[in-house]
Amino acid sequence: MSIKANDLVWKIGRRTIIDGVSLAVEPGKTLGLLGPNGSGKTSLLRLLAGLKRPHSGSVSIEGRNVRSISRRSMAQRVAFVEQHAATNANLKVIDVVKLGRFPHRSMFSNWNARDDEAVSSALERAGMTAKRDDRWQSLSGGEKQRAHIARALAQAPRELILDEPTNHLDIQHQISLLRLVSGLPITSIIALHDLNHAAMFCDHLIVMQNGKIIARGAPEQVITQDLLKDVFSIDARVEISPHHDRPHIHFLP
Ligand SMILES: Nc1ncnc2c1ncn2[C@@H]1O[C@H](COP(=O)(O)OP(=O)(O)OP(=O)(O)O)[C@@H](O)[C@H]1O
Ligand SMILES: [Mg+2]
Repeated sequence: MSIKANDLVWKIGRRTIIDGVSLAVEPGKTLGLLGPNGSGKTSLLRLLAGLKRPHSGSVSIEGRNVRSISRRSMAQRVAFVEQHAATNANLKVIDVVKLGRFPHRSMFSNWNARDDEAVSSALERAGMTAKRDDRWQSLSGGEKQRAHIARALAQAPRELILDEPTNHLDIQHQISLLRLVSGLPITSIIALHDLNHAAMFCDHLIVMQNGKIIARGAPEQVITQDLLKDVFSIDARVEISPHHDRPHIHFLP
């Protein structure tokens, strides 16, 4: 398994936020993380990325407990785009993306052609090439989001963790980002609110509620009328789309 979580528990004070979560993602697969606001998606992603320490349970990457992996080794292989990523406003876009190369360089190595190639390719794939020399504070919300994604891609990670990456994106960039991520030969975990997009682009889905996983499996096993009613309190019709053989939700007015 690429990323594995075993019975994770995480609390704030006496309140349990993540309540016995276990999961495993196979190498190269895309896992979608769904659930209402406050269900624990961001908290779980931060535990998986090794940014928070669980009260009990463990996270392992390719069989190694993340506690035993150095910060530098983690940064060389795991990229994380946070839900509300902040950046120093004085930088240019290309400088932000170059930060993704930092974990791969030693104190004495010079910037090389491989770093340039990784940065250019990441800008291109995130659709940010035309903005490479723009100042950070001049970007729109969606462009900032795409620049953060470019930084993560420049990192050339083996595991990519994205917390609501399509949040500020227009529909064209939402689709192209999800298509890009699901097509990458790396392991991805993505928290998403758009259930139809999750069903279209993820290999497996996990649904969280109150810090627990309450459903998991292939999109057609997870996205059901009963689940929509029980977890999201909505009445909707679900059918298998003839266009992509995945479940598609028709929301009712
Ligand atoms: N630092 C914190 N201090 C206090 N409460 C927190 C903190 N971080 C998370 N929580 C609480 O933990 C619960 C889970 O939050 P989390 O951010 O993981 O949810 P989420 O599923 O990512 O929600 P959203 O869809 O709104 O992003 C929420 O009730 C939140 O209020
Ligand atoms: Mg969140």
